[in-house]
Amino acid sequence: MSGAPGSPIDSVLREARRFPPSDEFRAGARLGSDELERLYAQAERDPDGFWADRARELHWFTPWQQVLDWQPPWARWFVGATTNLAWNCLDRHLDTRLGARLGARGDKAAIVWEGEPGDRRTLSYRELHAEVCRFANGLASLGVTSGDCVMIYLPLVPEAAIAMLACARLGATHSVVFGGFSAEALRDRALDAGARLVITADGGWRRGKIVPLKENVDRAVAGAPGIERVVVLRRTGHEIAFAPERDVWWHDLVAGASEQHDAPALDAEHPLFILYTSGTTGKPKGIVHTTGGYMVGVHATTRWVFDLREDDVYWCTADVGWVTGHSYVVYGPLLAGATTVMYEGAPDFPEPDRLWRVVAEHGVTIFYTAPTAIRAFVKWGEAWPARHKLSSLRLLGSVGEPINPEAWIWYHRVIGGGRCPVVDTWWQTETGSILIAPLPGVTTLKPGSCTRALPGIAADVVHKDGTSCGPDQGGYLVIRRPWPSMLRTVHGDPERYVSQYWSEIDGVYFAGDGARRDADGYFWVMGRVDDVINVAGHRLGTMEIESALVSHPAVAEAAVVGRPDELKGQGIVAFVTVKSGVVSSPALGAELRAHVTQEIGALARPDEIRFADALPKTRSGKIMRRLLKELAATGAVTGDVTTLEDLAVLLRLGGTDDE
Ligand code: WTA
Repeated sequence: MSGAPGSPIDSVLREARRFPPSDEFRAGARLGSDELERLYAQAERDPDGFWADRARELHWFTPWQQVLDWQPPWARWFVGATTNLAWNCLDRHLDTRLGARLGARGDKAAIVWEGEPGDRRTLSYRELHAEVCRFANGLASLGVTSGDCVMIYLPLVPEAAIAMLACARLGATHSVVFGGFSAEALRDRALDAGARLVITADGGWRRGKIVPLKENVDRAVAGAPGIERVVVLRRTGHEIAFAPERDVWWHDLVAGASEQHDAPALDAEHPLFILYTSGTTGKPKGIVHTTGGYMVGVHATTRWVFDLREDDVYWCTADVGWVTGHSYVVYGPLLAGATTVMYEGAPDFPEPDRLWRVVAEHGVTIFYTAPTAIRAFVKWGEAWPARHKLSSLRLLGSVGEPINPEAWIWYHRVIGGGRCPVVDTWWQTETGSILIAPLPGVTTLKPGSCTRALPGIAADVVHKDGTSCGPDQGGYLVIRRPWPSMLRTVHGDPERYVSQYWSEIDGVYFAGDGARRDADGYFWVMGRVDDVINVAGHRLGTMEIESALVSHPAVAEAAVVGRPDELKGQGIVAFVTVKSGVVSSPALGAELRAHVTQEIGALARPDEIRFADALPKTRSGKIMRRLLKELAATGAVTGDVTTLEDLAVLLRLGGTDDE
């Protein structure tokens, strides 16, 4: 246990297992240890030169005059340069002037897609280029131009990527809203972003049912008068209302459109997208990313962290409604010239082996998902993946929450067959691209740690006064220097950008996460600092207690929260879901409390264990501890539940006010 004055969090859990890269993986890896050390050294010695070298791997219409203009906390990267992100994702792979290897990607599969009902579509780089150009011409014919904002509210179909790329090509800032969000959420975001146009579909498929996207758009637009046009993709084919003067079918829009489109040269700082973070607390904020730096960050990290090779079949399971879908379903893989897989529907439809069927049938080699999904796989049981041949896989990834060591071990053993490195990638909507992660051919992995910061990223764990914490001392995760793919501002609220990210700790970017670094310099993220529980003066992170619970063989998932306790300040309540086939009982509760005592110590022992069949989560899968905290303290929830995935979960846990 090591706390210190000014440190927000104490660290109590130790993980001793180690996984060095296999000789085989090391031998074929894109990045070896010598090259990596060279990159670290260059980034340290000459950060601007380091990022300029990364930028030169992409195409610019005009070069920059300055790599970075840093007026804290305002950054401009690649000042004076012009480029086009869609050109770099598409034309660059077709343009034989850039050399045979790049130009030869025309027939390579860019997107391999499977719909929930089982329909399939593959688009080569040449075909994707043509579709994007046609749609960009179609949007332009509706008057969309550089600087406009366009909302995208689509299921996970190839057209979602086409729409994003067409906007990027034109210089229209896109704001993707996850198809699972409500009409109200879409309306609020469209109003905040000042959008003029919405791209949607009649509906999408989810667990065999139609998600009524167009109906939601009609309701949203009724409250967002700035929306002049709605483009509608026919996906489900069911009957929808259609306002002919406002609505236009996607297929009509592109019917006569040319497959040629000259990509304009856009300023490196041209706003590329606004993405609203629902977050587990508070009002959504519109995170603004720009073109050049974002492109450089996602391109470099996609190739490093996923060790991408020409013949990989890469699958990130995220929806394009999240930043992971932006950076690692669409832009990163396409910049890298990779084959990116998309699957529209639910992971357990028609049965809980759907994802493994997709892996086997498409020969997926790299698989990137979230801990919430991995814990669901654990809960469903090993029999489901065992039905399929997963031997094509060679690398696994995780993102979105701390991954509990036991879930990591399960993922590595059951999905990865013990042979695939697991890259645990730490980043945020705000950071644009991965900042802390293993390099799979070099890094010795420790389950539960996202390991080291990538070259060029000055990550640290600090006390409130900004000084670095010692080894294994819990503190605040910060980034000391700007990086190209960082957010530039919060849309319409620059003060919030300054106060939320750059004021908490003097002179550095404050991520809002608690973390520690071990003696090897590895980072261990311990959860959001807002979720820290204070027991008798000890500040405990949620991650470590939850991981202790998940290390018990009966437990699939756990969320711990504090509740007021006269004696200790806060007591610990744990919400626990068990694996399929396990029956919960008071005896199991007692056993779990004893298990935490043994793993961590009596201090972290939950005062109460509550069994639940599911935990309340945001639609991107993060546990909403805020709601559980309220429930544990007062027996009811009155706070904002608009970002909650499934209200029924909360009702079963104890009810909300509007029950
Ligand atoms: C958490 C997702 C631990 C963290 C890309 C962060 C993680 C927030 C990890 C950002 C990880 C993400 N280990 N925690 N590997 N990855 N987080 O904006 O709390 O949806 O601040 O971006 O997720 O979530 P966001």
